Amino acid sequence: MKKIFSKIVSVGLILCMGLAMASCAKKKDMTVQKGKLTMATNAYFPPYEYYDNNKIVGIDAEIAEAIAKKLDLELVIQDVEFDSIIAGVQSNKYDIGMAGMTVTDERKLAVNFSSTYATGIQAVIVAEDSEITDVDMLLDGDYKVGVQQGTTGDIYLTDDVGEDRVVRFSKGNDAVLALSTGKVDAVVIDNEPAKSFVAANEGLKILETSYAVEDYAMCINKNNTELLDAINKALKELTDDGTIAAIIEKYIPSNG
Ligand code: ARG
Repeated sequence: MKKIFSKIVSVGLILCMGLAMASCAKKKDMTVQKGKLTMATNAYFPPYEYYDNNKIVGIDAEIAEAIAKKLDLELVIQDVEFDSIIAGVQSNKYDIGMAGMTVTDERKLAVNFSSTYATGIQAVIVAEDSEITDVDMLLDGDYKVGVQQGTTGDIYLTDDVGEDRVVRFSKGNDAVLALSTGKVDAVVIDNEPAKSFVAANEGLKILETSYAVEDYAMCINKNNTELLDAINKALKELTDDGTIAAIIEKYIPSNG
């Protein structure tokens, strides 16, 4: 009787150890590179991601850093073309895509999204002396509109006005440059980058009416629900303790 009991106990112990090891091993496999959180972004999108002396900074970079810290991972940021981020996340090249990325139903077919951490607005930039005064006028006319390739600005506009009137650029500021030199009549881009591009280039303004309101989130491989859950948990803690709000406030001060 005693013998059987100790046998049960030791078998039980071995099972427990096995389980513990398995869950440990699983944890290590949660990211594409052991011990690292690899984030893909497109770093020409202030104040979410941009270069400051060779270092990528901004709201997304800081939130990702805080999440990585909570998950005990080292954050590695890779600057890539915006329209290659989702495919790279799907093929496990990167753990997450974080790039002021809008949650859309179509993208949800390809990747999972974390909880949202910010709101975005698709804004319209025009020359200060432009005859275009609102979004309807932009859509109804035969104006050429610059966008960053593969962004929601690109997708919605192409839907609304057709290929011929949409001019695609690999970076948002290239689209703004084309507007400054009169190659396009307007640019549709997210509101916060729009503000910083307008501040950096003379003779441009943002229309008061906006084109679309959207939510930003991180995208994650559909099979990696473990990382999704861990990120959402970290995100919730960082929201609850005010960290996220403080990071956003640092880059987008609410009173000016
Ligand atoms: N919010 C838009 C989208 O998801 C534009 C994002 C562009 N981001 C960037 N880092 N360039 O399509």
